[in-house]
Amino acid sequence: MQPRQRTDDVEVTWREPLPFHPGGDAPHGALARGAEALVERVDHLGRDAVAKRRLPKGWRAPELDQRLRSQRTKLEARLLGEAKRAGVRAPVVYDAHAREATLTMERLPGERMREALERATAAERDALLRRAGEAVGKLHAHDIVHGDLTTSNLLVHDGEVMVIDFGLGHISVEDEDKGVDLHVLHEALQATHARHGDLFPQVWAGYAARYAGAPRTAHVLDAISRRGRYKGYRA
Ligand SMILES: Nc1ncnc2c1ncn2[C@@H]1O[C@H](COP(=O)(O)OP(=O)(O)O)[C@@H](O)[C@H]1O
Ligand SMILES: [Mg+2]
Repeated sequence: MQPRQRTDDVEVTWREPLPFHPGGDAPHGALARGAEALVERVDHLGRDAVAKRRLPKGWRAPELDQRLRSQRTKLEARLLGEAKRAGVRAPVVYDAHAREATLTMERLPGERMREALERATAAERDALLRRAGEAVGKLHAHDIVHGDLTTSNLLVHDGEVMVIDFGLGHISVEDEDKGVDLHVLHEALQATHARHGDLFPQVWAGYAARYAGAPRTAHVLDAISRRGRYKGYRA
């Protein structure tokens, strides 16, 4: 791990997790079940919360599986804290239970950027994309690489963009890692929102406004596009 990663500065309490509330009984219930995790809406000491539990992968050796899930849970908790310190709106971590691979966090309001972008006017869309770029710029300025920047991992409320799902993230000072991070977002925008044209320039504007190292990231993006499989990033 990189030197900026510290294990001792995240306000995370370790204790038994809250019982899960099975789906179907609103307001508690499953919000999402991805390949990695089950996300449920729960009550945490009277607060509206979300519990994200990493599910065992049957094909993995049990001890390795346990270790990986608990490591990713701890790392995600740490990165969420780091993101907030970087000035990015991200959920407050209420509880992280490594052995149970469960993270309990603030439930953020709003909707996924995936849906927000589709409903927005062109002007709203530009503003959201810029906000998204600013958020990534702040993360990268603090050497936080998200690892899975898609419009399902960005939430939108009142024009504000929030970042969730740091499960594939890490701390890195490498330009290459930051370039790949943005490249993933570019690909996600192309894959999901292509009918609105190239949305990346607005993202880039926000990113460059918040991260002094943006020119170095631009070099990486240029190199990725030169590798041939992708179209260029900037007109
Ligand atoms: N803190 C949160 N507040 C509100 N919704 C959330 C929160 N965390 C996750 N979600 C919802 O659950 C979905 C899956 O969560 P995510 O952390 O992205 O898990 P996965 O790793 O399975 O993609 C998100 O796309 C979002 O809709
Ligand atoms: Mg996700």
